[in-house]
Amino acid sequence: MPNHQLTPPLTIDVTNAMIPGPAGCFGIASPLLISPMRVKLSKAMAVAFQARETGEIAWAELASERSSVDLCIEYANVIKKKFRNFVQFGIGGSALGAQALLDAVCHPFANNLPGNVRIFVADNIDPDWLHGLFEIIDPKETAFHVVTKSGATPETMAQAFLAIEQVKQAVGDNWRDHLYITTDPRKGALKKWAVQENLPTLHIHPNVGGRFSVLTSVGLLAAAVAGVDVYALLDGAQWAEEKCWRENPEENPAAKLAALLYRADVENQIKMFVMMPYSSRLYRLGDWFRQLWAESVGKRLDLNGNEVFVGTTPIKALGATDQHSQVQLYVEGPKDKLTIFVEAPFNHEVTIPQGLPGDDSLSYLTGHTFNELIHSELRATERALAKAERPSICFALNGHTPEAIGAFFYLWEVTTAFAGYLYNINPFDQPGVETGKVTTAALLGKKGMEAEANAIRSERDAYPRILL
Ligand code: PA5
Repeated sequence: MPNHQLTPPLTIDVTNAMIPGPAGCFGIASPLLISPMRVKLSKAMAVAFQARETGEIAWAELASERSSVDLCIEYANVIKKKFRNFVQFGIGGSALGAQALLDAVCHPFANNLPGNVRIFVADNIDPDWLHGLFEIIDPKETAFHVVTKSGATPETMAQAFLAIEQVKQAVGDNWRDHLYITTDPRKGALKKWAVQENLPTLHIHPNVGGRFSVLTSVGLLAAAVAGVDVYALLDGAQWAEEKCWRENPEENPAAKLAALLYRADVENQIKMFVMMPYSSRLYRLGDWFRQLWAESVGKRLDLNGNEVFVGTTPIKALGATDQHSQVQLYVEGPKDKLTIFVEAPFNHEVTIPQGLPGDDSLSYLTGHTFNELIHSELRATERALAKAERPSICFALNGHTPEAIGAFFYLWEVTTAFAGYLYNINPFDQPGVETGKVTTAALLGKKGMEAEANAIRSERDAYPRILL
């Protein structure tokens, strides 16, 4: 494990969320972040510690428990030798982390570079997109990674059926060589089928929920195919693990961050958290964060069964792009948002050349770099928000590195767990997603669901549609 003493993978600056007074943001003085809620926070942390102790949250061990990493690398090496394309089918937690990770650490146009395995993460069922995908890949030259923890998600399984059909048509009996599976080791239709067909299969521990699974083969196989140092990713996560399970909340960044976000909501009516990286490659961290936070914290019932309807809404934005789209609202609209900036040094420096001859109005740009420009724009937005008394925090990553991304993932996972328990809800279920799943299956004629299908249709027919 590398020594992170000198360059921690990330730091979190919360100054602009904690300056009290009229010029400040929402008035939590820094020494008081924890003290008014020490008992509540300690209780929430104790529930999480207990869940870890009993193995209920096996994702907490993924930074150090690395038993499946070698197999991921072994499969990745085979894939790199044999195939030109790698397509990951999955949705939600089975896709977003993998895509965010690839974007963050790989070349921005990695798929266009000669010699690279082209990687596609298919996280939707848009027929035009899927049709287009099969127009640009040759199934003969493609490995398909089907990722579904439950082994039953209709979007992913429908995609898998399509891939199998296409591969069978292309290579006949050798179709099995093109398929890799990631699923639950004990249950699900996919697991059963993978065993029956003897397909190479990687497992997600039963106690690792989808949105907490990026550090399993869900993220690691694609990363290894892309040539990412997956050990460095896990080293970064391990750096965060050491900090995030410290019992003293004053020394625990995840506890402090959870406390801040919780208080922003319940004491300051900050109902939206905007994740705004100033880096195109980090933009999709916002997608991963949105799922993690929304599905974990947005709940109707608390742990005692009372209706509580809690949750704050995660939003994503991109700097500097959204300065010309969203920032007007964030600075002058309702005081209901906290912005979470993410910044990281770039791998390259690009100089802004000489501008328009004879024009002085833009000459201040000349001689600077795009790096300086984007960095100054971040500081400018941060300041504009602070002056308008809008809180922000800033994650500074040490680079577009696997260590930083591993630390980022792990830190947010623990923060989300602590925040969930502060709200006294279960951060690991998602009952609100079920109705949609049941309705879809019924409408598509799933056996035994005829009554539901009829009820759904007559509900819809009960009122004339209102068209504008
Ligand atoms: O966090 C979760 O558990 C969900 O959002 C899942 O990631 C998503 O529904 C996909 O599920 P599965 O991996 O079972 O296909």
